[in-house]
Amino acid sequence: MKAIIYHETGGVEVLKYEDVQVPEIGADDVLVRVKAAALNHLDLRLRAGKSPRPVDLPHIGGIDIAGDVEKTGENVSDIAPGTRVVVDPTVRTPKGPSVIGVNRWGGLAEFVKVPTANVVPIPDEVSYDDASTLPICYVTAWYGLIDRGGMQQDETVLVHAAGSGTGCAAVQMAKELGAKVIATAGSDDKLEKVKKIGADATINYKTSDFAEEVKNITEGKGVDLIFDQVGASAWENNLKSLKAGGRILLVGVVGGGQETLNFGPIIMRDLSILGVTVFRAPRKNLINLINMMSLGRFRPVIDKKFPLSETAEAQKMLEDSSQFGKVILNP
Ligand SMILES: NC(=O)c1ccc[n+]([C@@H]2O[C@H](COP(=O)([O-])OP(=O)(O)OC[C@H]3O[C@@H](n4cnc5c(N)ncnc54)[C@H](OP(=O)(O)O)[C@@H]3O)[C@@H](O)[C@H]2O)c1
Repeated sequence: MKAIIYHETGGVEVLKYEDVQVPEIGADDVLVRVKAAALNHLDLRLRAGKSPRPVDLPHIGGIDIAGDVEKTGENVSDIAPGTRVVVDPTVRTPKGPSVIGVNRWGGLAEFVKVPTANVVPIPDEVSYDDASTLPICYVTAWYGLIDRGGMQQDETVLVHAAGSGTGCAAVQMAKELGAKVIATAGSDDKLEKVKKIGADATINYKTSDFAEEVKNITEGKGVDLIFDQVGASAWENNLKSLKAGGRILLVGVVGGGQETLNFGPIIMRDLSILGVTVFRAPRKNLINLINMMSLGRFRPVIDKKFPLSETAEAQKMLEDSSQFGKVILNP
């Protein structure tokens, strides 16, 4: 089969489009013929050797996968070849999560081996491209806002990096569930698009002080919840932007992973700091999102699709921060 494989970590030039043996499946596995694989920021960090979850080399990345079941293992009776599926990448083991595309070979290939428990059927009205956007970004948004953040209707939510795949998902989910959304991004062009997917107010974090802007927009009240994928560079302003009793969801660290904590404001204002990792999200979140999508309650934001052979170019788009929403590879 054709696959995008890397034998060493580094820049996009380490990505090779090569012939690789089709994976052998075990008795409890299925072989999925990949139709769409969505890229994530994590794919770039793994390939660059900059992730706290390093990969074994050689590696085939690709965490978000949708396709058809091609072949089933001898113990598999609940899913038939030909079934359209999306892959839940988190294989739950007694030792903790083992993630397809991270700890195992992923979907940047014509075929991927998946434990049968990790494939979820998708209805005909949900396309492979749309389904492939769900497992990381949309599940993170749902798990973060609802399960971890306890977001309530009519609360005000600040979403950072709102043009990222996960940021777009957070804006759409918060809006769909009845919150007021303030979104930040680094260009006016992205902010225009963020408004179109539901943000009530937007802030360019590169040309203004977002804490000041939040103060103006909320008439001094601050926000209830922050969906933060930025980390260190946003930390001080995040504290200033929260209401007393507010919560920060720490989702990503595109702006740095370490910060000195000043306990005072957290104690004095009853603030909550909550970590979010999609690899602990329950599978029911993915199933809910497939149902919501099939009912037409949201359409995922897809910027561009590339053939699998052009994965390097597609990853470059994420590296340059030029994408809005998701970038998809089709084998
Ligand atoms: N915890 C979890 O389970 C989980 C799940 C999914 C994603 N994440 C994390 O969430 C983040 C986004 O992931 P993604 O795949 O959605 O990303 P993505 O689509 O690659 O987008 C990242 C965006 O971040 C913005 N950005 C970059 N540097 C920035 C900075 N210094 N300050 C503010 N914004 C900056 C850029 O947009 P601008 O043009 O606006 O600067 C860029 O487009 C990553 O850190 C990722 O690891 C975590």
